[in-house]
Amino acid sequence: MPRSVEITVNVSPTVPETTRVAAESFTRSAVQAVEARGQARIAISGGSTPRTVFELLADPQQPFYARIPWDRMQLFWVDERCVGPDDPDSNYGMTRHAMLSKVPLPEANIHRMEGELDPQEGASRYEAELRHAFRLEGAETPTFDLIILGLGEDGHTASLFPHTLALSEMARLCMANHVPEKDVWRITLTWPVIIQAREVVFLIEGEAKAKMVRTIFAGAYDPETYPAQLIRPANGRLGLLLDTAAAR
Ligand code: 6PG
Repeated sequence: MPRSVEITVNVSPTVPETTRVAAESFTRSAVQAVEARGQARIAISGGSTPRTVFELLADPQQPFYARIPWDRMQLFWVDERCVGPDDPDSNYGMTRHAMLSKVPLPEANIHRMEGELDPQEGASRYEAELRHAFRLEGAETPTFDLIILGLGEDGHTASLFPHTLALSEMARLCMANHVPEKDVWRITLTWPVIIQAREVVFLIEGEAKAKMVRTIFAGAYDPETYPAQLIRPANGRLGLLLDTAAAR
């Protein structure tokens, strides 16, 4: 049986309220990491859900922008579509439009996955980037201060899709993963890296996700079919930020 995990659930009535809770969680993690270790190393997901959070963080009129130690933050991605940075599907492109173009995060602190490269090449370059950024030696795994995950309606998280090779990868830090149903390639952090983070938070919104939320967090353990079930953080803690619709 998998490790037991204490899940802290926060349900907000609406998406805007969930967005604010997520922005506060991001800000608090960044501030605490910098206070404790001098820097904040955070990995974010893409897709559509986090966009509103990034826009809120980047708004100087909101109470997050001024609190975030942008110059002490190192930003990474959980996964990326194998497309160029200007492609509408690019997770980096979405984040640049929603936040990076508006905040004083130094270019050198932005560690994007190079989706425009051959997938294997992009994955191995990102592995090297992680090793350099975290000064890893040998088989060491990076410990992110915060990792924000989404959940697909099919139970995937990151680019850990059902019945794909990435689910059984335990050695590499990130890898290229082919997704047959979509006939696309992705670059993704592997799940042993994700569960090593000091804080792992799922941000899930909308009625369409409600059934899968129940399956992942209350259903039988079947991670090949429901890969998000692999995310059982080593420190035994997991955050779940939901709106009422997703929590139904
Ligand atoms: C991606 C994400 C992916 C996402 C889920 C949910 O590259 O798409 O990293 O894991 O978190 O697919 O996506 P939505 O937020 O768009 O529902």
